Amino acid sequence: MSSTTAIGIDIGGTGIKGAVVDLATGALLSDRIKVPTPTGGRPGDIIDTTRRLLETVSVGTANIPVGICFPAVVKRGHTMSAANVSEEWIGLAAEDMFEASLGRSIHFVNDADAAGYAEAQYGAAQGVAGVVLLTTLGTGIGSALLNDGVLVPNTEVGHIEIDGSDYEKKAAYSAKERDDLSWTKWAGRLQKYYSALERLFSPDLFIVGGGVSKHHREFLPLLQLGTPIIPAVHRNNAGILGAAALAVKNPG
Ligand code: BGC
Repeated sequence: MSSTTAIGIDIGGTGIKGAVVDLATGALLSDRIKVPTPTGGRPGDIIDTTRRLLETVSVGTANIPVGICFPAVVKRGHTMSAANVSEEWIGLAAEDMFEASLGRSIHFVNDADAAGYAEAQYGAAQGVAGVVLLTTLGTGIGSALLNDGVLVPNTEVGHIEIDGSDYEKKAAYSAKERDDLSWTKWAGRLQKYYSALERLFSPDLFIVGGGVSKHHREFLPLLQLGTPIIPAVHRNNAGILGAAALAVKNPG
């Protein structure tokens, strides 16, 4: 019998957050607990912080599945990149390391892929046919590519090069804050970015996630694209929801 509840933990470049999720509806059944990502984003520190967060989130739950999502390419439980965390993650058997520290099995996945899966199950991509490209605008830019609801993992299109730059450094929400850009100035960079994605993927729908998508009225209407572009439904909770749902779909 499959579980109807699971714990999702979303590790980001800035914060680590977790909650218990009702998988039938995608609703959070507990408070969302959020702690800062340890400075330097080193493996031991992030794993310790995650262990303490899981202890808090799991109070009162039985041994329900746990899904963890992480801001890196994840292949067979190994972290293969590190854009906004310590480079010490590259090549680590991260899933095994989390399991050893947490004392339980987990499902481990890229953060944007978890968000894309959540939007396909419970949000803006639910029932959408064709190619959907979800991007999360946060500390970095994450991506999830779905075709008829099926996820193609680890697409990493936040790092496409435009004008000689890794474009997440120009167009992520952190770049808007760092360079103190108005919505209009930031939208100029997003225009370049989404036009490039449109040429490469010919998507049927763009979905924009990350916390800033709650302000979508300030910047999405400024973009001129041939593809519809809409905000995500779950924004900051999508990683938690997707990680929890994938933990049940792929039990450890
Ligand atoms: C990482 C991706 C991640 C995204 C959002 C990027 O810098 O390369 O793996 O999904 O940030 O956190």
